[in-house]
Amino acid sequence: MTLKDIIAQSIRDNNGAIGFDAFMDFALYTPALGYYRRGETIFGEKGDFITAPETSDLFGYCLAKQCSAIIKGSGYILEFGAGTGILAAQILFELARLDSLPEKYYILELSGQLQQKQKDTISRVLPELIERVEWLSELPSDFSGVVIANEVLDAMPAKRVRFRRGEFFELAVTVEEGSFQWQMQDKTFNSPLTPLPSVRVEGYTTEVNQRALAWVDSLYQAMRDGVVLLIDYGMARSDYHHEQRTEGTLRCYQQHKASDNPFENIGKQDMTTSVNFSDVAEQALGSGFKIAGYCTQAMFLISLGVDQYLLDEKDLDRRSILAQQVKQLVLPSAMGESFKVLALTKKQSVKLDGFNEQNLINKL
Ligand SMILES: C[S@@+](CC[C@H](N)C(=O)[O-])C[C@H]1O[C@@H](n2cnc3c(N)ncnc32)[C@H](O)[C@@H]1O
Repeated sequence: MTLKDIIAQSIRDNNGAIGFDAFMDFALYTPALGYYRRGETIFGEKGDFITAPETSDLFGYCLAKQCSAIIKGSGYILEFGAGTGILAAQILFELARLDSLPEKYYILELSGQLQQKQKDTISRVLPELIERVEWLSELPSDFSGVVIANEVLDAMPAKRVRFRRGEFFELAVTVEEGSFQWQMQDKTFNSPLTPLPSVRVEGYTTEVNQRALAWVDSLYQAMRDGVVLLIDYGMARSDYHHEQRTEGTLRCYQQHKASDNPFENIGKQDMTTSVNFSDVAEQALGSGFKIAGYCTQAMFLISLGVDQYLLDEKDLDRRSILAQQVKQLVLPSAMGESFKVLALTKKQSVKLDGFNEQNLINKL
């Protein structure tokens, strides 16, 4: 059975359209066929998109600096959705240099193929530290330390909703003559956890990520104490629900080209929605977390001394390569402003240096 067949069958089994979140879940995570489960090259120049740790080691070094202040050489780190494993390698490398290694570096990765890739990367780059890394298949209980999720929330399946004649309705997915199509549901969409846009533009479409909010809550339940660092592209609600953002934030990526059609190249293209950081922060507060900081990726990295790493590189050729990478991470026209960092804490009061230069909590 192809992935298309599997999704079409589930629509028939459901006796009607399925939510876009269910469709996205199939497209990204169906074992052996979903985009993140196929074992193809996803990350980097030869793949479909480049993430911050794939751009520069300095991203991971700055995160390591922040982790070091929290775990002080004894706690644990838990990374979600660890991609190729390069971020784990960068963080462990720098923590070893700072003499601040965690007891264990846990990785919770849904994809068996990516787990293998992560093992390969860390064994190749840091064979002496591979024993410290442990792969988990579910949330640990009583976790104490730092949780990191870089570009993970945006990969969680979201619902789509559309405004018509005064109300929002869910945009679900149906199949007709073998092709998938949007279908607006008859029943008004109720969103008990998150406010819907107050704009009154006919056809206005946006996303609601209920699964990401449930994940935040389950994280709170799984933690004894510590800090959660969520890094992703996204914005506060006022911007997410801006009246000119009429088509929402859903994007698909294949070979570095963006498209807004999730019904083509199913299983072969990435599918993502931007993070509504206000929704996430409100859910976090509701679960019991405190919000320790919210800022742009650029200011987070600058606060943690990304420029100093650059100056510390004495080889001028290598420094100029690093400088190009840093530009990519911090320039507003690249990843600097579209990516944000949100820090949540549970029973942890350490001051987070990543927010020294900017803290935009009041914008959430
Ligand atoms: C865009 S990739 C980011 C990979 C990596 N963090 C990086 O920055 O290169 C999204 C990752 O999130 C993972 N993911 C999505 N939902 C997850 C969840 N609930 N738990 C753990 N990983 C998840 C996916 O399997 C995928 O590895």
